[in-house]
Amino acid sequence: MSGRLRDAVYALRKARLGLERRRLDYGEETEERAERLARVLPATAEELRAYEREYESLEWFHDSYADRVAEIHDAGVATDTTHWRDGVTLYVVCRALEVETAVETGVLYGSFDAHVLAAMEENGGGTLHSVDLPDGPPGPFEYGHLIPDRCRDRWELHRGDAREVLPTLLERVGSVDLFLHDSDHRLPHMRFEYETALSHLAAGGVLASHDVRLSRLFDRFTCTNDLRACVVCDTGIARIPSSGRTE
Ligand SMILES: C[S@@+](CC[C@H](N)C(=O)[O-])C[C@H]1O[C@@H](n2cnc3c(N)ncnc32)[C@H](O)[C@@H]1O
Repeated sequence: MSGRLRDAVYALRKARLGLERRRLDYGEETEERAERLARVLPATAEELRAYEREYESLEWFHDSYADRVAEIHDAGVATDTTHWRDGVTLYVVCRALEVETAVETGVLYGSFDAHVLAAMEENGGGTLHSVDLPDGPPGPFEYGHLIPDRCRDRWELHRGDAREVLPTLLERVGSVDLFLHDSDHRLPHMRFEYETALSHLAAGGVLASHDVRLSRLFDRFTCTNDLRACVVCDTGIARIPSSGRTE
């Protein structure tokens, strides 16, 4: 498929998703987060709900995060800085699995990074490696502006196209507990990232992806690879069996 045609298909999918989102009840999705995740993670819905409550009460995080969101909005930067619902899902996953090593693509202002790093802070350990393009985000702020100072030491930013950076990074990092895709959502790129990450995920580790409702790719990929999976709002969560992929 030519690049132009691929872009047109992607634009169509985005428009269709925009319409579908009006029908989606995100309130209900959020209500069901713990039940959905409990089908995938080694934790009960009650345990997962306790992590949701813990997140709500994390004052050091919310104070800093709200200030930084306000700074970005005040600067007039037109971007979605508030992936609140999906950020909580990642927080809960990282707490439930005590994620130590995570790799993410697509940082922008770092909403997801902030949530993963907050969970690592509460876990008492961990490192998040994040990949984004060399030039930096639009506007006066740097990549990861939303990340609170308190957990910044756990964050390593790698600048470059994920196609080039990811294979070497994953080799270097070793076994990964969480891989999160949120960069280029065109299908060949998403597929490339899922496939590249899969062989580096630890037994019991998680493949997570944002914007999974753009296509059937996440569902098909997890099904083909026998991964137990669920979707909450716009985030897909799939888990490698705890005794490895041959289980
Ligand atoms: C939707 S934004 C990410 C939002 C972010 N995860 C958050 O939590 O706010 C997408 C990001 O992916 C980056 N990106 C796009 N194509 C990429 C590629 N090929 N490799 C690495 N990053 C890419 C863009 O520069 C942009 O910052």
